[in-house]
Amino acid sequence: MAVYLGIDIGTSGTKTLAVEESGKILAASTVEYPLYSPKPGWSEQDPEDWWQATINSVKQVLKLAKVKKEDVKGLGLSGQMHGSVFLDKKQDVIRPALLWNDQRTAAECDEIESKAGGRKRLIKMVANPALTGFTAPKILWLRNNEPKNYSRVTQVLLPKDYVRFRLTGEYATEVSDASGTLLLDVKKRNWSKKLLDLLEIDSSLLPSVYESEEVSGTLHAEAAKLLGLKEGTPVVGGGGDQAAGAVGNAIVKRGVISATLGTSGVVFAHSDEVEIDPEGRVHTFCHAVRGKWHVMGVVLSAGGSLQWYRNQLGEEAVREAKKQKIDPYEIITEQAAQAEPGSEGLYFLPYLAGERTPHADPHARGAWIGLSLRHGRSHLIRSLMEGATYAMKDCLEIIKGMNVSVNEIRVSGGGARSTFWRQMQADIYGQSVCTINAEEGPAYGVALLAAAGTGAYKDVVEACNATISVVSTTKPVAKTKKSYEKLYPMYGQLYRSLKADFKSIQENL
Ligand code: XUL
Repeated sequence: MAVYLGIDIGTSGTKTLAVEESGKILAASTVEYPLYSPKPGWSEQDPEDWWQATINSVKQVLKLAKVKKEDVKGLGLSGQMHGSVFLDKKQDVIRPALLWNDQRTAAECDEIESKAGGRKRLIKMVANPALTGFTAPKILWLRNNEPKNYSRVTQVLLPKDYVRFRLTGEYATEVSDASGTLLLDVKKRNWSKKLLDLLEIDSSLLPSVYESEEVSGTLHAEAAKLLGLKEGTPVVGGGGDQAAGAVGNAIVKRGVISATLGTSGVVFAHSDEVEIDPEGRVHTFCHAVRGKWHVMGVVLSAGGSLQWYRNQLGEEAVREAKKQKIDPYEIITEQAAQAEPGSEGLYFLPYLAGERTPHADPHARGAWIGLSLRHGRSHLIRSLMEGATYAMKDCLEIIKGMNVSVNEIRVSGGGARSTFWRQMQADIYGQSVCTINAEEGPAYGVALLAAAGTGAYKDVVEACNATISVVSTTKPVAKTKKSYEKLYPMYGQLYRSLKADFKSIQENL
């Protein structure tokens, strides 16, 4: 038997999956860890927690799947993107890692743009503008704010690549995650010497770059013993969680795109060429498919908005769900379904954590606009779900305008499990949406990359074709689609009207 392990170093925990060559999942295990926010806008984790969670989740999965160590033919790594692990010359971690959702680097983003000779030139070099979550501004932040720590840095690694280092002893990354550092020449699929020079960052601080299915190292004796695996087991490049999740959804050819509605919302499209939005509203990164790219829009609080509603205003639904032993979201979406499409003129802006796509605005805030005496709970919920879905449509529309074809939309995440939200997505996107037989996301994607990279398949596209298929299609309802076409422009207009006010609110805090 050939088994592949997919390990995803997420923000709330590390998830390991054991997957057979056929794509069948044998077992899954998640081990959680804390996130620290020592100051407002800061978001940090202890890399040692990722390593301990990796050991424990792998051990649990091997036990649950009753797999012998000889059967494990390869490991794939995925993880939260953009984080920064700083190592010293003894290979010890210097300080907690700054994460993808850390917002402390606004000044460093300006510094990068100015050193690069402006936003346009920066986008030309690395395909993307400087965003607070990316890795390069974090490196500059350390240099500007903790110079003593900076002087000790000998290596900067992304979260999953730190775990790779603990597994193999190698300093290595792969193209998809490296793209999110802002230091990769995305077109050439290697570090941008030009930008590194302009920012005065020594290239020796960065690891070697591999393609995602390439073997980047093998398990060393000590790690193999800790995990209960065989020394020498290959570890492939893997992927940043979005590219790996896309492989897990088989978004590996032109025309097929995914819309994932989890806490955040991501619209992800495969592209055969490097396609760049000149305004930098969507990210252009290397794909985990060899020699291919992807574009992606990120909505920071998509499902997160509904989660916020459940936690803050949904007490009654939570109580009732407990009584009926069902998921509170079932009750909440039933309530939403009682309102008409368009929620009788009520709009919700889902910018509860600021926004990335399309506004890249850390000051943006959430809002219900258009309340009247006629509105009740059902309108509040429905409009909130509509607002989150309009935000996803914003991403989709930018991607459609970029020479990237959108023939099939695959939906996943919590928003795809609800029939009601799936229908709403089809109606608002104005296109059919489908679901597939795989729901495990990034960990599944990197298990497939491990299978492809160690020879079970010719490449990752063949691995996806052999294991993943469409299981359901939801078509838009013509009348509702038409209503949403009329309502959507006002959603965009409301942000434009409020943009300056959001900034003033922040300044007056
Ligand atoms: C992608 C992104 C998130 C993180 C955490 O750009 O910021 O997906 O990788 O999941």
